[in-house]
Amino acid sequence: MSFCFNFDVPALTTNLDDAGGNGLQKGKKDNAAKPMEENTNLAEPVKEAKEHLLPSDPQLLLMDAVTETVTIGTLPPLHFLNETVFEKTACEREDGEKILSRTAEQRSDLISGVYEGGLKVWECTYDLLELIEKDGETFGGKAVLDLGCGAGLLGILALRRGARQVHFQDYNSTVIEQLTVPNVILNCQEEDEGESEDDEEGKGKGKIQAEDGIPPPKKRAVRDQSKHLLQAKCRFFSGDWSTFIALVTNELPQPKYDIIFTSETIYNTAYYPSLHETLHKLLAPGGLVYLATKSHYFGVGGGLHLFETFVEQRGIFSLDHLWDGEEGLQRHVVVLRFKMAK
Ligand SMILES: C[S@@+](CC[C@H](N)C(=O)[O-])C[C@H]1O[C@@H](n2cnc3c(N)ncnc32)[C@H](O)[C@@H]1O
Repeated sequence: MSFCFNFDVPALTTNLDDAGGNGLQKGKKDNAAKPMEENTNLAEPVKEAKEHLLPSDPQLLLMDAVTETVTIGTLPPLHFLNETVFEKTACEREDGEKILSRTAEQRSDLISGVYEGGLKVWECTYDLLELIEKDGETFGGKAVLDLGCGAGLLGILALRRGARQVHFQDYNSTVIEQLTVPNVILNCQEEDEGESEDDEEGKGKGKIQAEDGIPPPKKRAVRDQSKHLLQAKCRFFSGDWSTFIALVTNELPQPKYDIIFTSETIYNTAYYPSLHETLHKLLAPGGLVYLATKSHYFGVGGGLHLFETFVEQRGIFSLDHLWDGEEGLQRHVVVLRFKMAK
């Protein structure tokens, strides 16, 4: 599988491994090669699930944004906030959870129960994007959940490929507010601006305002339309899976998803019961869960074999391998479906 990055700023790949191996993983490829270190914080209460509404002017989230683009085969280019710049400017962001400062301080990818790793794009996301490209999945009219979404690239692809509804969930509210929502807006903005070709002013990410700071009326109209479209199609949630299930299953009608994406979310065996329950409660009959994962998460303990055993014991889903990578630390894409639906 191959993909190409188009960086709007030079990619900085820094290896900050210290002697104890408690390194903050930076750069795309590093994620595969190095163990994922967990910093356990058992005293922390789990984060209660909540829904995040779009801000009144979502475009403000993109002011001065530095972005990068991933292009995979025939898929629409996907844009997202540059990780390195995001980290460097973390202190300027609102972070009620204090995860930006804590991850930097502790130089850790993961602080169990505090920060679950959503601030960067993990490698298996790209594997799943490539698989979708090969399989030609279109998402037309489907309801999609990007579970443990982080940057949200899988959900964004579904949105751009005609999904009727896309919901994004991440453990951390900071991730949803500072990364997922801006990324979704960034990609919707590109689509809308592409459609209004006679309106040339202010094109380009990060250059969204006219000189006086107020966009011209036509652009404002396009943006309002884009916001309404986003509101109609997308919802954003943060919090622990156990409370997320409770939140959404209380709704009427209860959301059910035709497709659930979940990438790099089975690293911690302690979360398997709530993850499995979420999939069980929220997958529509006949729906598919696409799970992308490494074989094993060193330093944390989870991995595909343990998750497969867990799924088998529960007896609810069948699990089939769609892609098994051979190189280095092995990676996989599997699909789960209700046993009776097979
Ligand atoms: C390693 S990150 C992967 C992010 C993204 N899917 C990717 O591939 O780039 C794991 C994600 O799983 C989610 N997650 C892990 N444990 C969770 C839990 N107990 N409750 C809710 N979300 C959880 C977090 O939202 C986190 O962003």
